[in-house]
Amino acid sequence: MEKKLINLGIFGFGCVGQGLYEVLNKTRGINARIKKICIKDPDKPRPIDQSYFTTDKEDILSDPSIDVVVELINDTAAAFDIVATALRNGKAVVSASKRMIAENLGTLYTLQQQYHVPFLYEGACCASIPIIRNLEEYYDNDLLNAVEGICNGSTNYILTKIFEEQLDFDTALRQAQEKGFAETDPTLDIEGFDPKFKICILLLHAFGTFVQPDEVFNFGISHLNDFDINYARQRSGTIKLIAKCRRQNGHVVTYVLPHLITGHHLLSDVSNEYNGILVESSFSENQFFVGKGAGGTATGSAVLSDISALTYNYHYEYKKIAQRNSLALTNDIQLKIYLRYKKTGQVDLADFYTISEKYESPDNHYVVGMINLEKLKNAAWLQNKGVNLLVLE
Ligand SMILES: NC(=O)c1ccc[n+]([C@@H]2O[C@H](COP(=O)([O-])OP(=O)(O)OC[C@H]3O[C@@H](n4cnc5c(N)ncnc54)[C@H](OP(=O)(O)O)[C@@H]3O)[C@@H](O)[C@H]2O)c1
Repeated sequence: MEKKLINLGIFGFGCVGQGLYEVLNKTRGINARIKKICIKDPDKPRPIDQSYFTTDKEDILSDPSIDVVVELINDTAAAFDIVATALRNGKAVVSASKRMIAENLGTLYTLQQQYHVPFLYEGACCASIPIIRNLEEYYDNDLLNAVEGICNGSTNYILTKIFEEQLDFDTALRQAQEKGFAETDPTLDIEGFDPKFKICILLLHAFGTFVQPDEVFNFGISHLNDFDINYARQRSGTIKLIAKCRRQNGHVVTYVLPHLITGHHLLSDVSNEYNGILVESSFSENQFFVGKGAGGTATGSAVLSDISALTYNYHYEYKKIAQRNSLALTNDIQLKIYLRYKKTGQVDLADFYTISEKYESPDNHYVVGMINLEKLKNAAWLQNKGVNLLVLE
């Protein structure tokens, strides 16, 4: 099939924008050219000709010759404004801004239906892993049970460096930032917000469920200390920040939590900035997707693939919504957790359903027990300094 020439208007020329530029230049099979790039700071030195750049968004949004708007900026409110305006102007849009997409999924879905324009965002979930298109197309008719895994390259890089190279947390975070894996605001990564935005997007494509990110519980890796790391090592395990959505008794459970994984768990081999997603379905059982989950060219390649898909009129059909299979969210499940705290009374052990193990030393205490996810989500004591949790599977 012959591919038509696409004129691109790009917003953002940071890590991902430049990655897209690089992969676009090295790819023969796509007939696309960059017409304009809108950035924020007109005085910043740029590695390519100045004539590409503008700071006026209308140079892209109001240019009728631009077919596709590619939104790759680090400002959530501005990104939503750009994407919504472009869709209203009848332009196809590609974006990698997970937070903006997750927080506005309902509106963005409606705009696509209203204006009959495609909006693709594969790069927003697991960078190079084509998970959204697989959930849309391959898992169309299959009965999905779960989509779960590592979908934050920055924290996986940090955890790998801690466990495999004995680096301390701050050094590993700095390295992740230097390599372009971390978000502009690293708390979004290390507190588990970034993977939460991604799992909210995957939830819609897997189960047809719309949720606002603040409905979903996340707890990141910033509370980890040497005691937790040793606890994992003594059990020949490792710690991974896992985002999950799983069908459960006619509902769907969704969260982002650090997990202690042991034995031959597929996710324990996912290292550095790589992401790994397990898809479990009733008939095809388990499939495992692995690929680079952050970085300019890895994300740029997913953005390029979306641009390419537009040349054959691809759009998400949101089939799980159309099939009226949408599942409601629930937090009513029991989790087995390790809870480490500093002193007696700092956490409310009465919130546990059962406790099977208890340890106390002058510096660190811990319990292992079963707790309801809703209780955990609402537990004020979880935010106390010196408290950390790991899910045990
Ligand atoms: N980095 C990754 O590995 C990765 C992976 C997947 C998804 N993402 C997502 O992709 C998006 C971009 O990330 P990034 O890492 O490329 O960010 P970045 O390196 O910080 O670059 C951000 C770019 O956005 C531009 N910008 C900010 N506000 C703007 C506005 N109002 N109008 C026009 N341009 C504006 C900046 O302009 P100036 O150059 O003038 O400052 C800069 O070029 C984010 O939403 C991020 O979450 C990133």
